[in-house]
Amino acid sequence: METITLGRQGPAVPPLAVGTLPFGTTLDTPTSHRILDAALDAGATFLDTANNYAFWVDGATGDESESTLGGWFAARPGARDRVTLASKIGARPRPGGRSFADALGLGAAAVRAQVDASLARLRTDRLDVLYAHVDDTSVPLEETVGALQAEVRRGTARVIGCSNLTAPRLAAALAAAGDGPAYAVLQQRFTYLTTVPGVDLLPQVVLDEAVRGVADDADLTLIGYSPLLHGAYTRPDKELPEPYRHGGTATQLAALADAAAVTGLDAGQVVLAWMTSLPRPVLPVVGVSSPEQLASAVHAVSAGLPAEVVAALDAARTVGP
Ligand SMILES: NC(=O)c1ccc[n+]([C@@H]2O[C@H](COP(=O)([O-])OP(=O)(O)OC[C@H]3O[C@@H](n4cnc5c(N)ncnc54)[C@H](OP(=O)(O)O)[C@@H]3O)[C@@H](O)[C@H]2O)c1
Repeated sequence: METITLGRQGPAVPPLAVGTLPFGTTLDTPTSHRILDAALDAGATFLDTANNYAFWVDGATGDESESTLGGWFAARPGARDRVTLASKIGARPRPGGRSFADALGLGAAAVRAQVDASLARLRTDRLDVLYAHVDDTSVPLEETVGALQAEVRRGTARVIGCSNLTAPRLAAALAAAGDGPAYAVLQQRFTYLTTVPGVDLLPQVVLDEAVRGVADDADLTLIGYSPLLHGAYTRPDKELPEPYRHGGTATQLAALADAAAVTGLDAGQVVLAWMTSLPRPVLPVVGVSSPEQLASAVHAVSAGLPAEVVAALDAARTVGP
């Protein structure tokens, strides 16, 4: 697979990230480790976790995904140095809390404490990408960005990134970096199907044109999560989420079906290939629950799409509600 540099001078990564949200909760540890083994073998070495996955599952704390990765690093000597490891902080509930409203947040002391706890669970001494997981408007952006920059100076983060920011907040966060390292990576919700305009998915934020413009001007690498809409492009058992159902949906789905027929990929694979074929690619963070799903995603981003297929998909995507 071709590689992409994160930001202006971050690590080079393959054109997809492996999402590990269910690892250790709804996906057992042996299966999670088998997927990680397969990812390493396939060169899908950009791993995505967070310090709160998946606290909302009954009986879970939010430690599980990072701890499962940490167990895998311990069991596979040398694996840590072969992967680009991204984790996120800020959206983990305080002890005793069960919701995003109780989040530990992104104040300076909270950033330091969460990074130390993540490193302990991951059994490593550094993150390659440290994300601010959600916006924390209760803390001045200068404090949050300054605390993340301090992690770069401390050697615990190679590059910093952010997730789920609106365009004005991203612009303000980039300005808050001053002369220090600024965000190099932006991770937002993104797929081929467009959403109903103005839809509120908070704490999740979609990669819209406004935020994309701000990110492009600053050379941020774009990462898109939930690209497969949990399997809804190809599986009758997975319902298309409500925010993606509007007057343009049928046209967009028809364009995907046409592209699938031309390329021999399935509709979900076309979405992944389209994301990585854009002039400014959006790297998918793909959720996989088996080595076969991982192989399908790797094949999709390695395949690429003919220019005329990309053009047809782009045209259909402008058909709105
Ligand atoms: N920054 C953020 O706020 C944020 C938010 C959400 C997620 N994320 C990251 O993004 C990652 C992916 O998110 P997601 O799980 O919502 O994304 P997704 O990629 O849209 O959905 C993943 C699910 O799609 C199904 N699937 C995968 N490959 C398939 C295939 N070849 N054919 C049919 N179905 C397939 C699987 O469902 P089954 O398991 O049911 O088979 C899989 O669990 C997470 O793990 C996490 O790392 C970040």
